[in-house]
Amino acid sequence: MDFPLFHLDWLNDRFLIAMIAIIHVFINHGLAVGFLPYITLLEQQGVVKSGPEDITDLAWDKMVHRMMMVGFVITTTMGAMTGVGIWFSAALISPNSIGSLIRVFYWGWFTEWIVFVLEVVFIMIYFLTWKNSNKSLRAKQRHIRFGWFLSGFSWLTMAIIVAILGFMMDPGNWIQEQSLVSALTNPIYLPQLLFRTPTAMVVAGAFGFLLIMLFTKKSSAIRPTALKTTAIWVLLWLPLSILASIYYYNVIPDAMTANMSTAVGTMDFAKYYDLLKYIILIATSSLALLAIWTLWKPKKVNLIIVIIPFVLSLGFLGIFERVREFIRKPYVIGNYMYSNLIREEDYPLLQRDGILKHSTYTSITEITEENKLEAGKDVFMIACSRCHTSQGINSIIYVFEKMYGIGKPLDINSMKAYIPNMHNGRTYMPPYPGNEEELDALAHYIFYLQQSGATLEGAQSAGAHLNPTHSVEHFIEQKLNNNKNE
Ligand code: HEC
Repeated sequence: MDFPLFHLDWLNDRFLIAMIAIIHVFINHGLAVGFLPYITLLEQQGVVKSGPEDITDLAWDKMVHRMMMVGFVITTTMGAMTGVGIWFSAALISPNSIGSLIRVFYWGWFTEWIVFVLEVVFIMIYFLTWKNSNKSLRAKQRHIRFGWFLSGFSWLTMAIIVAILGFMMDPGNWIQEQSLVSALTNPIYLPQLLFRTPTAMVVAGAFGFLLIMLFTKKSSAIRPTALKTTAIWVLLWLPLSILASIYYYNVIPDAMTANMSTAVGTMDFAKYYDLLKYIILIATSSLALLAIWTLWKPKKVNLIIVIIPFVLSLGFLGIFERVREFIRKPYVIGNYMYSNLIREEDYPLLQRDGILKHSTYTSITEITEENKLEAGKDVFMIACSRCHTSQGINSIIYVFEKMYGIGKPLDINSMKAYIPNMHNGRTYMPPYPGNEEELDALAHYIFYLQQSGATLEGAQSAGAHLNPTHSVEHFIEQKLNNNKNE
């Protein structure tokens, strides 16, 4: 509430973060964290399988180099941009939570930025020195050692960020201790890191299968060997990924797993919840089958049977991220800050005085008949707009009409009865934060939205009004009054 709120009224704010984050995870896990050790292994294999006179098997090395080119181009462009983009979009949509995270993880983030920039530089060095390193065996071996070092480094960037992701789900002892150490040792950190590590390796293998098929000819002698190495790589990491996912699932608090059915899609989708398990099962087993088939009949592998597990494994990773983002609701930072950006501990104050009075950006401090709609709009912006739009995706009209009848005029009193209890039945929604008058204004505003088809503009286009009672003039006036009274 200390920031003017950015709002995407058609797309839904959550969508923006989710889209950028999911693309980033594909790239980070599939083409960096998992891919770099995989590529280094292949590069090393080229040296091992070459003749005693050669530095490396040149045809093989060329294939690996081309695969790395894909990783290089995508990670240093889309990967880097979406990585920074996640925090830009999250800071726009959820400024208070990013503010809190920065206060807690200041040094963690500081380290992350340095490590991240170095990672990009190291990827460039690794890729750009590749050809030169083929001139002598010593140079090649140094290049391969650099590849292993880079792999560790790129894992480190993930390891730091996962601490923050784990913290947002369950801050653990930090709630009492409020120290960086207690934040870093949050209960979900290690399980999630244990899950992401082998999963990144598996997804890299799926990318590997695809790239080998694209960069080698059917008749080529290196294709079967490369596919077999990839198959072994996948078969070694896959069981670890599955075991770690079971462990991870088991440390997620029960309140969160209860959210899982709504997390995947919308409530309408909840009945197809079982599908989720099947997608995971089908994705992992299709990859396992591909790997086994490859070991058995490497020459019979074709593009189609490679693409299917590839798409499924991206689907699996995408669903995992979507679920992770959703199940911590109603919180954005577990047990500390709700997804509407209001801290749990501020609720009693706000429910007594109203949210507008304590909001920095609103033009209204006293609700009257004349300003009721304007007030309702501000209340909606603060209390509901992080998850609902006016007429777009997950629109507030639609969710109410679904309960009371599609197309029927909404009833203000029914909405007023529902909203203060909305968190009881739907535990992914935070409790209503405001007071009675604000509830009345909110219900009138929602009714008005339905009747008029009006939309809601975010601060980026509508601008922002400073709360008149927060202005310097007001402050001076109060001071003068106090002085007079003394
Ligand atoms: C943390 C995100 C979040 C916030 C904040 C939020 N909602 Fe929701 N709300 C949801 C989600 C998710 C759904 C489920 C939509 C679906 O899948 O059908 C939902 C559903 C609803 C429903 C339908 C419930 C049902 O039983 O069918 C209503 C009514 C509703 N919201 C009203 C509100 C109002 C009013 C506010 C603001 C005071 C609000 N919500 C704030 C996330 C949120």
